[in-house]
Amino acid sequence: MADPESAELLLLIRQLKESLAFQGRLGWPGAPVRAAAAAPETPVEAPAPSSHPPTLEEIRAEMGDCRRCKLWRTRTHLVFGEGSPTAELMFIGEGPGAEEDQQGRPFVGPAGQLLNNLLAKLGLRREEVYIANVVKSRPPGNREPEPDEIAACLPFLKKQIEAIRPRVIVTLGRVATQALLETTAPLTKLRGTWQSYQGIPVMPTFHPSYLLRFPRERLKTWEDMQKVMARLGRT
Ligand code: URA
Repeated sequence: MADPESAELLLLIRQLKESLAFQGRLGWPGAPVRAAAAAPETPVEAPAPSSHPPTLEEIRAEMGDCRRCKLWRTRTHLVFGEGSPTAELMFIGEGPGAEEDQQGRPFVGPAGQLLNNLLAKLGLRREEVYIANVVKSRPPGNREPEPDEIAACLPFLKKQIEAIRPRVIVTLGRVATQALLETTAPLTKLRGTWQSYQGIPVMPTFHPSYLLRFPRERLKTWEDMQKVMARLGRT
């Protein structure tokens, strides 16, 4: 058994060792050199959410065989939209008609012919613009899309706009204009005047189907399109 003096000495030595070890852990100067500390673990972080908007292909894939509203029951093909994914100019119609439903492409029936004529007269190729509709499935009998159908489909149109980021949007007719701008203002009030969607200039104009029935109104759409072309620097 150690005598009291030795015991005190032993205690002192132990306290000194513990103190040095403690300083060593803190990394103070003068502390004994420690074994290299293990590299700190790389923090495990969830992958940062991708900042780029979804591509048109991704949006199409997300829609899939869409059954988010009742229109899927009567449609033949979903009409997603078509054109350049980097279009400066985007047209938005109301919804597919009979011909579009058959072909799965927007504006390929009589209204589409008139739109094609307009594009040609403006010196625009159809492939360089983007053409989409508010609803992607044909409302039976060409009736107007109902509010629940618009509500189900509008998020996809908005994603398409986000993916394309056109410089100018042209809304064709009342339904497209009111849906995109979330307004109940009549087309007669909005047509031909610059509006805005998410900072993108929007020009509401007549729907080509309306112009087929009232050809005298075509001049107004022509004038609206002159404003659009000027805005794009393509007079
Ligand atoms: N009318 C529309 O609104 N969209 C089409 O695609 C065809 C006709």
